[in-house]
Amino acid sequence: ATGMAAGKVILLGEHGVVYGRHALALPIPDVVNVTITRASELSHDLPGEFVDLLLNELGVEDKGWQISIDSELPFGKGLGSSAAIAVAIARAFDNALQLGLDDERVNAIAFASEKLAHGTPSGVDNTLATFAKPMLFRNAGGLQFESLDFDTPPPLIIAWGQETGRTSEQVAGVRKRREQSAAHFDCLFDEMDRLSRQGAELLQAANWEELGALMNICHGLLNAIGVSTPDLERMVALARHCGAVGAKITGAGGGGSIVALCPGNSSAVDTELRRAGYQTLVLAGKQVS
Ligand code: PMV
Repeated sequence: ATGMAAGKVILLGEHGVVYGRHALALPIPDVVNVTITRASELSHDLPGEFVDLLLNELGVEDKGWQISIDSELPFGKGLGSSAAIAVAIARAFDNALQLGLDDERVNAIAFASEKLAHGTPSGVDNTLATFAKPMLFRNAGGLQFESLDFDTPPPLIIAWGQETGRTSEQVAGVRKRREQSAAHFDCLFDEMDRLSRQGAELLQAANWEELGALMNICHGLLNAIGVSTPDLERMVALARHCGAVGAKITGAGGGGSIVALCPGNSSAVDTELRRAGYQTLVLAGKQVS
């Protein structure tokens, strides 16, 4: 049996979303596929605790399964790979064993696995992986989202280099720095919230210039809370230099990916980032290349 899930790219609001603010995120559709087949014993290339937790949540007692992952997402680059794997595994077992899981239950199972991976996740990754819709997301004691409809998808390029950011470490670092300057950090998170909500309107109006400006501001705020690196700054500067109207860290930072909004110049930005040695993923609506 197989199961599929989406990755995600956060356009605005990462980190603030851990503190109850909104984030604006888009799915990277159908990029993670899981196949499970009968085997003499449990076999997979994933962390043992992660699979044990999922099987436990799913109520699967017979462990004779081989779990194989086929993913177009890089791992550890802020694109929601671990949540997508959890969702795809849940769906594969649902298909194999007719567990009758609805999307809410799949989302809750993947959220539990995210808690294991990084302590205090907002739930944005598992929610995007499950529902695969553009959304304004928030965790205000419970997972809430408003899905967004629009006809023109934003012309986005995602790029990453060698550095891998560990989400748990980045979130812990932000928490520590916030403890020293709570009032300042809370202002920055409030501003991220405003950017996300305004960004959702601009996204629906296909107003790329203004949306790009908000992404640039958000990048500055992410730098202010201490999650940028010289290599992320280099990627952002390169994308802007080639004509991106907005470019920022996406995901937890400390390494990982940037996202650039590139109306009319996607291929120039893509070519330059690749020439500089980065890997890219071009995202426009349902197509990924
Ligand atoms: O897991 P990542 O690196 O794709 O990013 C998650 C976004 C954060 O806001 C940094 C953490 C969270 O749980 O929302």
